[in-house]
Amino acid sequence: MSRWPIARFLDAAGVAGAEAVLRNASLHLGGEVVGTVAACEPALDVQNYRECFVRDFAVSVAAFLEVGETDVVRSFVRTVAALRPDEAGSIIPPASGLMPASFTVEREEREDGVRERVVADYGQRAIGRVAPVDSALWWLLIVRAYQRSTGDTALARDPVVCAAIERVLSFYLRPQFEMLPSLLVPDGSSMIDRRMGVHGHPLDIQVLFWAGLRAGLELLSDGHALVEQVFERLVALGRHLRQDYWLDRKRVEVIRRYPVEEFGTLLENPWNLHPDAIPVWTMAWLAEGGGYYAGNLGPARLDVRFFALGNLLAVSTGLATSDQAQALFDLIEHHRRDLLCDSGMKLTYPPLEERDWYTQTGSDQKNVAWSYHNAGTWPMLLWPLVSAARVAGRSELAAEAMTAAAPRLARDAWPEYYDGPYGGLIGRRARLEQTWSVAAVLAGGTLLARPEAPDPFAFERDEALEEAIAQAKPDTVGRID
Ligand code: GLC
Repeated sequence: MSRWPIARFLDAAGVAGAEAVLRNASLHLGGEVVGTVAACEPALDVQNYRECFVRDFAVSVAAFLEVGETDVVRSFVRTVAALRPDEAGSIIPPASGLMPASFTVEREEREDGVRERVVADYGQRAIGRVAPVDSALWWLLIVRAYQRSTGDTALARDPVVCAAIERVLSFYLRPQFEMLPSLLVPDGSSMIDRRMGVHGHPLDIQVLFWAGLRAGLELLSDGHALVEQVFERLVALGRHLRQDYWLDRKRVEVIRRYPVEEFGTLLENPWNLHPDAIPVWTMAWLAEGGGYYAGNLGPARLDVRFFALGNLLAVSTGLATSDQAQALFDLIEHHRRDLLCDSGMKLTYPPLEERDWYTQTGSDQKNVAWSYHNAGTWPMLLWPLVSAARVAGRSELAAEAMTAAAPRLARDAWPEYYDGPYGGLIGRRARLEQTWSVAAVLAGGTLLARPEAPDPFAFERDEALEEAIAQAKPDTVGRID
């Protein structure tokens, strides 16, 4: 009998196969399992899929914690906490406080035995040399999920882990080159780790920042010097994202009448957005009801693409208000043919096409329209979909998606992503036996099977935080609601 109670979605052979893929992905260090590698397909040609990615491992953590497998999570947390960027050997040492996208264990056979060494990639080896801004935020979420699930507060007090928490928070809270509470990041700095026009203030990073800070508040001891700073940033960030990133019909109507070229402090249109930049598809989508968080916001820049991970995490981490959570699920229901497929959920929508694709991706053949990060369909999103749906009370929709996808993924040997407008074809360059595709079905299926069991990655309402956000000074005028 499998430990994951997901018989409603997958037959016994399917579950056994999924579990075998997850076990086979174990990464060992000194006799312990310290992570899971990204994919195990035997014919794998790209070497770093044999590494443990921090963001991918978060999905494995969800699956492990739900069935009480906590040792591997603790070992992972300690291993990553002990890594320091200055060991990475790159030309310019990565900033202290950055955590690696991935790591592996190198083994050297010597006369006196086998010597093992953890080798981490902070972007100095990654395709495109991208900076993994999301990794440390996922790591904080993992430490907090472990603590919540086990009740063991000793891990976060361990000197190495505690120092890493402080290092990360101090680094992410440091002043930067601008005025906004959001994080300014380069392109390719999260799950979408290739050039896709997601530089600036992309939603996925901002929501992870919000979640990482919320995790930090729970992990820091009372009275810690960083607590006040974390709280203040959460208030400013929460207010900014809820107010300025949220798009629905009412808001689009306001933006379409924005004045431009305003100067001063209290403005209606502080980013100088040009109303004509709202594309026709967005007007059509939102006229039908529902709402979502925009993909990016900055000077004269409103990226209205739908980014699934940021939107789903916004719900499960309590960034989205309850009205926003309902509106998001209304939108997903209205546009389920576009967003939910028999193989997972669209990572982004719509795709960059033609000239936009050429200029924004730099002509990236892996990211052609309807593939991979460019409106490809990702099975791993089933996990955040379920997690968000439980919070919004819309589990039925997620269960339908899981029912359609789980057997299909098992039949197709757990692809990394699917292609096409409706996600019907295995991704042209997708890996098979992709660990987070498996883990998403195990973790998401278990959350659906046990609606009463707590979700270790979800956040409850924090009254003090909500009150402070409600009372925060307005930074603009002419606001709706
Ligand atoms: C790809 C994905 C990235 C993922 C990695 C390992 O690079 O874009 O998000 O972490 O594969 O699965």
